[in-house]
Order: sequence, then C-alpha cells, then structure tokens
Amino acid sequence: MVANNRVLLTSTPTGIPEERHFEVVKSEVPALQDGEVLVQNEWLSLDPYMRGQIAGRHLSGKVSPGDVLRGETVATVLESKSELVKAGDKVSGFGGWQEYACLPAAELVKLRDDIKPTSYALSVLGMPGLTAYAGLVWQARIKEGDTVLIPAAIGAVGSTAAQIAKNKGCRIIGVSSFPSKIKYATEVLGYDACLNRLDANVEAELKKLAPDGVDVYFDLVGGEMLEMASRNLAIGARVILCGLMADYNNENKTPGPYPGLWIGARAVIHGLVVYDFQSRTDEFLDAMIPQITAGKMGMLEDTSEGIASAPAAFCKLMRGENEGKTLVKIK
Ligand SMILES: NC(=O)c1ccc[n+]([C@@H]2O[C@H](COP(=O)([O-])OP(=O)(O)OC[C@H]3O[C@@H](n4cnc5c(N)ncnc54)[C@H](OP(=O)(O)O)[C@@H]3O)[C@@H](O)[C@H]2O)c1
Repeated sequence: MVANNRVLLTSTPTGIPEERHFEVVKSEVPALQDGEVLVQNEWLSLDPYMRGQIAGRHLSGKVSPGDVLRGETVATVLESKSELVKAGDKVSGFGGWQEYACLPAAELVKLRDDIKPTSYALSVLGMPGLTAYAGLVWQARIKEGDTVLIPAAIGAVGSTAAQIAKNKGCRIIGVSSFPSKIKYATEVLGYDACLNRLDANVEAELKKLAPDGVDVYFDLVGGEMLEMASRNLAIGARVILCGLMADYNNENKTPGPYPGLWIGARAVIHGLVVYDFQSRTDEFLDAMIPQITAGKMGMLEDTSEGIASAPAAFCKLMRGENEGKTLVKIK
C-alpha cells in the first residue's frame, strides 16, 4: 500500500479563501481495478475555476467539505491495469491535490514528447494556453494592427494571450496591479504598455493609449474592467468573455455593462468555455510548439514545493498575488 498525502477542503469559505479552509491528510491509495492506473503526480495546476467549484457554481461540479480538491496534474504512471498506458508513461489528467492518484486510464492523456518542459502541459501548452489561443485566434480572429487589451496581464492565460497577439503583429495593452508585474509585462512579455488597475486614472490612461478604441478585449476579470473596456471599444470590436476574477470571491455578481455600449461599437461578444475546443488541442500545439522552440514564447511559473504548499499557493492566487502560472511541484 502506498501512503498518500492529500489536501481536503475542510469548510466552504466566504470571500477570499484562507489556509484554515484546507487540511493535509495521509491515507492509503486503494487497490487498482481493471482499466485503472496508479500515477505519481509531479506537477499540480492551481486555477481560479477551483474557487467556483468550492462555491458550487462551476460547470464542472462542486467540491464539498471533506472532498479532496480537484485539479489537473502531470504525472508518471507507476502501475497500469489497462492497455492504454503503461508504467513509465508521462500523462496529464485530473490527479487532484494529492501525491498519488488511482484513475481510469481512459481519462488520461499521454504527454506529447515535444512538450518541454513538462510543466508547460499545464500552462502555455495546456488548458490556459488553449484558452488564450481559442479566444484570440478562433473566436476574435485577431489580425495584424489590432489593439488588444488584456487584464491579468502576466497570469497564465493573459501572458499566453499577450505572446500570441504580439507574434501576430497586434498592439497589446495589459492591465495588472503590482509594479513588479507591470515591469515584467512591458520588459519581458513585450506589452506596448501596461496599466495599473488600482490607479484612479486608469481609464484616462487607456483613452490616451487607444484613442481609436480597443479592437479586441480579452476579458479575464469581469467587474469594473469589463465596464471600462466596454466604454472604450472601437467600431467592430470583439469582446471575449472568459473569466470573472473580480467576482470569484464575492457572493454577489457584478450586473455587467450597459448593452448599448456594445450596440454602439457593433461589437461581437463571444462567451468562451475552453472545454469546447479540447478536440482541437493538436492543432493548437502544432501552432504553439514551434514558437516555444524558437524562443518566441514561454511561461513565468509561480511554483511552490510539496503538496502541503497547495493551500497557501491557491489562497495567494485568489488574492491576485501570483506572478505567472501557479503550480505546485509535488515530486
Ligand atoms: N472560460 C474558460 O474556459 C477559462 C479557462 C481558463 C481560465 N479562465 C479564466 O481566465 C482568468 C485568468 O485565469 P489564469 O489561470 O490565467 O489566472 P491568473 O491570471 O494567473 O491569476 C489571476 C489574476 O487575476 C488578476 N486579477 C484581476 N482582478 C482581480 C481581483 N479583483 N482579485 C484578484 N485578482 C485579480 C490578478 O492579476 P493582476 O494583479 O495582474 O491584475 C491575478 O494574478 C480567470 O478568470 C479564469 O477563471 C477561463
């Protein structure tokens, strides 16, 4: 029997989650059934959607007190009772906030050899990267010369979106908060400018930077930023509604912008759910991997060590203090 450290939710937070809402427990991995595999998790992805699962308002279902937190992992197969994968294979799947997982082989994806480093399977070459690519390329159909506005500018989705848009010849304006993040956005990611969402004059600054309006707004936050972007759209703008970072910790939902702003801009509004694009993963990877190999794209990783560090890292993400993709290095 393998001893397994796992993180459970102990109570449902209101507001920003704190470490006291989680606990680490040791248990044994159950014996494998036919069709199942035992994996050792190496990297765990922490993502804002988990706040929605904890609150019971995410489309993937609810995580209740007593449950192991769910999450995508990169893992190595230790033992297999399936012909689909064998011991030693590197896979991604929903291994959860734990060191080992016993999972149906049919739910695992074998990692392509050209995904390097393997942690990129959870960021720029994984779900956040696919989200950015689907929103900008397949939905908004960005083109050279577009002015693209991206909040959460250096986060997992935002930083991938920035690099995709930059490589397509767009002008990219970021929105972030801490000075260190703004510096990284402009000096490393190539944003033409990065606004501070906490500045009182942020809208005046946006008007100066985009006097003809924003062609593409990739909304990762909702709330006041969506209002502000909607007031500053160019004619024919595309708005990708993707995330609600400003609302996840709140019980009440922001009502949303006045639709007349979108009518006036003749805007096209897309709702984005990344799962709808999963069947196009290879197309996405074939477009992205050469850019990574050529050094035109990468990912800043905000990594903590050991499964017991996951609650603190998740709380940090939900306070908006992460810099880059939030990951836990489990092994
Ligand atoms: N629709 C989909 O299928 C889909 C898929 C993946 C992700 N998403 C969404 O995309 C968004 C970004 O996800 P991610 O994984 O890339 O996260 P992330 O950007 O790495 O982290 C979240 C960032 O949001 C920013 N933020 C803005 N307003 C905030 C507020 N009021 N409180 C706290 N943080 C705030 C912070 O960055 P600054 O300090 O730079 O502002 C924070 O670092 C999330 O809303 C997520 O749910 C949606």
